[in-house]
Amino acid sequence: MLAVYTELKNAEKVKNFLIAKKNFNTDYLPVKEFGLIYFPIVRKIKVPKAKVVNTKFKFPAKDVPLTIDELLKGKLTAKEMKLVPRSLEVVGKIMILEVPEELKKKEKLIAEAYLKQNPNVETVAKKEETHSGEFRLRKIKILAGRKSKETVHFENGVKIKLGLEKTYFSARSGNERLRIARLVKKGEEVLVMFSGAAPFPLVIAKNSLAKVIYGIEINPSAHQYAVKNVSLNRFDDRIAVFFGDVNKILPGMKKKFNRVVMPLPKTGEQFLGLALKKVKKDGFVHLYAFLDEKEIDKEAKKIKGICKQNKKECRVVRKIKCGQFSPGVFRVCFDLKVK
Ligand SMILES: C[S@@+](CC[C@H](N)C(=O)[O-])C[C@H]1O[C@@H](n2cnc3c(N)ncnc32)[C@H](O)[C@@H]1O
Repeated sequence: MLAVYTELKNAEKVKNFLIAKKNFNTDYLPVKEFGLIYFPIVRKIKVPKAKVVNTKFKFPAKDVPLTIDELLKGKLTAKEMKLVPRSLEVVGKIMILEVPEELKKKEKLIAEAYLKQNPNVETVAKKEETHSGEFRLRKIKILAGRKSKETVHFENGVKIKLGLEKTYFSARSGNERLRIARLVKKGEEVLVMFSGAAPFPLVIAKNSLAKVIYGIEINPSAHQYAVKNVSLNRFDDRIAVFFGDVNKILPGMKKKFNRVVMPLPKTGEQFLGLALKKVKKDGFVHLYAFLDEKEIDKEAKKIKGICKQNKKECRVVRKIKCGQFSPGVFRVCFDLKVK
């Protein structure tokens, strides 16, 4: 094979020269032998401090992970290949696919291929039912790998342990959690009204100088995970999680907060009056809603109306699209400043 060789002490310089000249054959790995190093090249070239040679030995091929199409080649028809799911959600070590009905008979084959392609994934599952009900739970079916629906997700510097069918969780909201955490100022007291397994409280505690973060969650399993996650991340002194309905817990709580986060996009608006009672003067509320793009401004006006009814003056500081629910429908966060 065509190569150049040099003494080991010149290795870095020769390698950089070959890369700069786009002459490094990246399909293969270099070989070291008797104090010399051989670099595979594409074409003959003069290289300072190195000699060109046609080696008798073959260079070891680089282990390039196969693409999903390569892994499924010959196992699926061309028509089926076009339907293979490409949008994936990975929560901890579990990958969740949306498999179309037409591929039901091939779903295990597809899952095995994804498992092979992703060494960090232990389980491949498919979405059975989307998030629904008061607890916003979903159903998944395991197709390949380890038969467990519990995992630990790493995000924004925290560990979040959760059972995928026992608590709501969306890995896709990680950036939004960090956005909120970065808005929190030193010494703030923050309330997360629908805290689930506590991803918002954890990410805020890790990425801000908040004094304390309260979380309230009605789903007992999600709350249990939240309790574990607070200890797992050693935030027992800064996060307090409560089990129950915000409607019952908050009226009895004397405390008011600098910031209230309301991550319940389906029905969150119904709880805005309650949130406004708990926010301090010049504090903030982050209200989430699923909306068609055309409805965003209308909703902002509606929110201002709700504030007025509750005798609070609010300004919509920002309207942020922070996820997609379905084609044309977005998860929108309204950042409100409350006077
Ligand atoms: C969309 S999930 C968000 C969970 C979590 N904050 C997250 O980002 O992963 C909404 C959560 O609100 C909880 N919830 C719904 N109604 C509630 C209520 N009245 N009081 C407290 N929690 C409630 C649900 O059980 C669910 O866990």
